[in-house]
Amino acid sequence: MGPMNPRTPTHAIEPQFLSRWSPRGFDGQPLPESEVLRCLEAARWAPSSGNSQPWRYVVTLNGTPAFQAVWAGLAEGNRVWAHRAGALLVACSLTSSLKRGERKPLGASAFDAGAAWMSLALQAQAQGLAAHAMGGFDAATVGAAIGLGEHARIDCVIALGRPDPQAPLSAELRERETPNDRLPLADWVRLDRWTFPEA
Ligand SMILES: Cc1cc2nc3c(=O)[nH]c(=O)nc-3n(C[C@H](O)[C@H](O)[C@H](O)COP(=O)(O)O)c2cc1C
Repeated sequence: MGPMNPRTPTHAIEPQFLSRWSPRGFDGQPLPESEVLRCLEAARWAPSSGNSQPWRYVVTLNGTPAFQAVWAGLAEGNRVWAHRAGALLVACSLTSSLKRGERKPLGASAFDAGAAWMSLALQAQAQGLAAHAMGGFDAATVGAAIGLGEHARIDCVIALGRPDPQAPLSAELRERETPNDRLPLADWVRLDRWTFPEA
């Protein structure tokens, strides 16, 4: 965690949870495949329902037609900065699996894929990289770009790369280029019973 990180935990935790954040300023250099593989290796060891490992990743490196095709499917607000990511990863999860010839829905696959993505993000941080998840994309465009399988969904597109504090950003995005805060535990944890106020 750099000296500029304003995050303060209310209970003692490992610093990696505070130092990981999602910048938009990247250096524009394609990532070496080995660096991407290290991040994916961390995701590999994530827990999953029945060890089903239902996450699927398509990796595209900056400078390739595949990268361009995925980038083109991003929302405008993401395209303006994500073109400088070293790689765009399309994080998918299986919606069903074949068990003894029968197709069964995989109810926990998004939860499992979420765990894998978090491992990837923390590993990226440890490598001096950053991972920024994006839900802002057109599913049909990105799905067509990667040839999405029939029994899978795209959970998000991940911009992975080396952060660059000098990267050109609009004034509005520059303003947000710092770790943000979180709700207090008291807002979302209860002992024994659900006593959350209605939303
Ligand atoms: C599933 C998901 C979708 C997101 N979609 C976008 C997005 O489309 N564009 C964007 O700039 N950030 C996106 N984010 C980043 C979140 O805004 C960010 O993770 C959140 O504000 C917490 O900040 P931090 O990751 O820096 O700690 C997304 C994050 C997740 C997990």
